[in-house]
Amino acid sequence: MSDTLVDIKKVVKEFHTGKVAVQALRGVDLVVKTGDFMAIVGPSGSGKTTLLNIIGALDIPTGGSVNLFDRNLSELSRKDRADLRLHQLGFVFQAYNLVPVLTARENVEFVLELQGEGNGRETTALATLESLGLADLADRRPTEMSGGQQQRVAVARAVASKPKLVLADEPTANLDSENAETLLKMMRDLRDTHDMTFVFSTHDPLVVSYASRVVTLRDGVVVSDEQRNGDEIGED
Ligand SMILES: Nc1ncnc2c1ncn2[C@@H]1O[C@H](COP(=O)(O)OP(=O)(O)O)[C@@H](O)[C@H]1O
Ligand SMILES: [Mg+2]
Repeated sequence: MSDTLVDIKKVVKEFHTGKVAVQALRGVDLVVKTGDFMAIVGPSGSGKTTLLNIIGALDIPTGGSVNLFDRNLSELSRKDRADLRLHQLGFVFQAYNLVPVLTARENVEFVLELQGEGNGRETTALATLESLGLADLADRRPTEMSGGQQQRVAVARAVASKPKLVLADEPTANLDSENAETLLKMMRDLRDTHDMTFVFSTHDPLVVSYASRVVTLRDGVVVSDEQRNGDEIGED
């Protein structure tokens, strides 16, 4: 495996609503490397969510090519793409999307079950929550947690099976700055200790300040791609 996780070339995505066609992405080139802690920024409607969905094999482009883990997505069946998502990727969404009737531990276990994990699920789920400082929340349901806590559990769920790449669409959108920073530090620790790569979209300058790389979208094209030293923010 090379250290290129994602290689996107000339990607176009067109949506048709009624008679109008909207070009959400208009020729995007992007390479994501192992260890990137990448922020995708840009005004609302610039194509951030569309791009993340394409990177995550949740959606297929109208044109161009997408290579994910050295596999050309256009050559994969729907089922292969679903397997790739389930086993190699982690997702965190803006609305935490925890299952409301399940506790934090059960939410994590549920994804491990989908992934075909056998016995050890409960142990893995608890160990993941513990390693992220969330052991106290293990038996709580989403309604018994704050927004920040729910989002931390959502990250625990996304990373429990140690995916290579975690995609997060505006993960801090519903959090105050203190909770946002806690979440970012948690994600960055995972990047450092487990070789995970993170790509997240955001509007928030605080979140951007943590990034090691900032990609700016405008009207469906990449207008800048900068290396930063956000890795050092918040270190003692
Ligand atoms: N499912 C869809 N159907 C039609 N238009 C869409 C759809 N998803 C996104 N778009 C349009 O594509 C453009 C980019 O949207 P999006 O990727 O959601 O931007 P962002 O996440 O940066 O706000 C917008 O003009 C949006 O209205
Ligand atoms: Mg969006």
